[in-house]
Amino acid sequence: MTEKKKADNITWHESKVNKNDRRKLNKHTSAVLWFTGLSGSGKSTLAVEVERKLNERGIHTYILDGDNIRHGLNKDLGFSPEDRSENIRRIGEVTKLFVDAGIMTLTAFISPYHEERQQVRELLNDLEFIEIYVKCSLEAAEIRDPKGLYKKARNGEIKNFTGIDAPYEAPKHPELIVETDQLSLEDSVKQVIEFLERKGYIYL
Ligand code: ADX
Repeated sequence: MTEKKKADNITWHESKVNKNDRRKLNKHTSAVLWFTGLSGSGKSTLAVEVERKLNERGIHTYILDGDNIRHGLNKDLGFSPEDRSENIRRIGEVTKLFVDAGIMTLTAFISPYHEERQQVRELLNDLEFIEIYVKCSLEAAEIRDPKGLYKKARNGEIKNFTGIDAPYEAPKHPELIVETDQLSLEDSVKQVIEFLERKGYIYL
């Protein structure tokens, strides 16, 4: 996608408190746990439980969730490839602000396209983008069908549904893969927390 800045005569204004100052005050680093996967794969469920664990450990967190953000900031967007791309572009920018604010940010968006996820990765510094592939077979997601949307998509009531008549490009080199159709929720959460400990994002 070609980026076009529409406004001229704008100047970046530096603040006197920077990301590192905020991190020092928080006593932890900031990054994004970018959960990607099919609808019904368990992204939001996992993000909610991981956030709870982080909060218990005194870490400042925030979740950006697809269904929620589409009620507000992105309520003007649908599910065409262009709109999904714009959805992720905006979330990428919001994520960058949250990481700059010193927050451990968790996002739960299908984010089906490799290119858009890569663009978000590039917006952030090294080690700030933790891509977590919430891997779940289409069959398992369809059996769960927590919102009844797969049924509607199969009946042709919803068009462009990811996995049915719209693509999902699985991450090639995610930082972590969590197989939610193989693991319990508890073990999935444990896998994420252990990853964060092992890589030094959080301490015991
Ligand atoms: S994304 O593809 O642009 O990243 P996002 O994560 O924001 O999607 O929203 C996905 C959620 O919107 C799904 O979990 C589901 O509840 C709902 N939804 C409604 N229509 C569709 C559709 N056509 N494809 C996928 N999800 C849809």
